Order: sequence, then structure tokens, then C-alpha cells
Amino acid sequence: MNPLNHVAIIMDGNGRWGLKNKNSRNAGHKAGLNTVEKIIKETIKNKIQFLTLYAFSTENWKRPKKEINYLFTLLENFLVNRIEDLHKQNIKLKILGLKNFSKRLNKLLNLAEKKTYKNKKLQINLALNYGSKYEIINALKNLKKSKGKINERNLTKFLLTKNIPDPDLLIRTGNTKRLSNFLLWQLAYSEIFFEKKLWPDFKEKDYNKIIKKFKNIKRNFGKI
Ligand code: FPP
Repeated sequence: MNPLNHVAIIMDGNGRWGLKNKNSRNAGHKAGLNTVEKIIKETIKNKIQFLTLYAFSTENWKRPKKEINYLFTLLENFLVNRIEDLHKQNIKLKILGLKNFSKRLNKLLNLAEKKTYKNKKLQINLALNYGSKYEIINALKNLKKSKGKINERNLTKFLLTKNIPDPDLLIRTGNTKRLSNFLLWQLAYSEIFFEKKLWPDFKEKDYNKIIKKFKNIKRNFGKI
């Protein structure tokens, strides 16, 4: 059975769920947050060390202001209301992406990272204002500045995910089969599962079904 240390998730389908069920995309994001909570719990139950969630891409800035503001308010409330409990559960929160949000949100994100820095049970990486192409170009620039030799090992040291193992498993909900500029370098050998359900409809049993399938895959990493 394959060890599972790191799950990455593209949480797609909130908007469609919201429109279909409540006539509002934002209602879909709210419902999506409930799924986030459920999946965090289930990740701990499965003794997985790293969970990376794609919460906001560099391309998501093109959405209507009203939706962007709603997403950030959800995130602020999540940080204010939940960080103490996450900390008590020994969960570490790390942000992957440039923190150029409102002063208040930047401060909350920094505080959450600082508070949970030493926690060990589960590391949640929240990809926020994240774009993989930018991450790789930036890593290359910094590697060049450091005058280090350009090779895989050295480049990895300048990625936002330095010290984080590559995802073993990527799940994308929402019935769309694409990577959307997410962890393009790090997903080189990950097993990928595209799930038809929209993120707010994704349940613990769906997650566990994928984990079970993943554990039984023959992973070759290029060998035979
Ligand atoms: C993609 O669905 C989802 C997002 C861009 C936002 C994800 C946010 C959450 C799950 C809630 C907030 C999370 C945290 C951790 C506070 P979409 O809107 O692109 O859906 P669509 O494809 O149906 O339009």
C-alpha cells in the first residue's frame, strides 16, 4: 500500500453549486467552507501530514469585486473564529502565495502562521494569491541571484513549497480536468483524481474512496 503524506486539492465548483442551490455564487463559497472543515477532520483521521488547498489563484483577481470581497471576508472570519481551535489541535497553517491583501487580512494570516508555526500533527498549506508559473520563475530568479547551480534540487529550495514533500495525491472536484496553474512543478509524479461532484457536495466518504484507490495504485515513478 502506498504511503500518503501529502494531499493537494483544487476545490472547484462552489460557484455552480451556489447558483444551482441558492441562486448565489457566494452561497456556494460559504458551503465550500463547510467542506473544508470536514476534509481537515478526515485528513487528520487518515494520519496525513500535509494538506494543500487551492483557495485563491492569481487569476481569481479577474472575478467580480463583490465575489472577491466575499471570499476574503469568509477567510477572515475563518481565521478569527477557528485559529485557536486549529492551534489546539496541533495544526500548522502555512500560506503559499504573496500576501498582498487588505492590511487586516495580511495581519491575520501572519498571526495565524506565527501562532501555529511549531505545530506538528497536520500542516495545512493554503494556496492564496498563488500561481505556479510565477512561483517557478521567481524561484529561478532567486537561484540565479544565489549563484547556485541550476538543477532540480537547488530550484526546489526556492519554491514556496521548500521543506514540503511533493503531493502524493491531487484531487480536483467540480467535473473539470485541468491543473489551473496549481503546483505544476510539484505535481510531476502525483496521482491525479478528477471528481465529478462540486466541492460543497464532496463528502468524507468520497474522500476516503479516493484515498483507498490511491493506496492501491502501483506507483512506478518512471520505473517498471
Ligand atoms: C473554486 O470554485 C473555488 C474558489 C475559487 C474558492 C475556494 C474557497 C473556499 C472553498 C471557501 C473558503 C476557504 C477557506 C479556506 C477560508 P469556483 O468558484 O471556481 O466554482 P465554479 O467553477 O463552479 O465557478
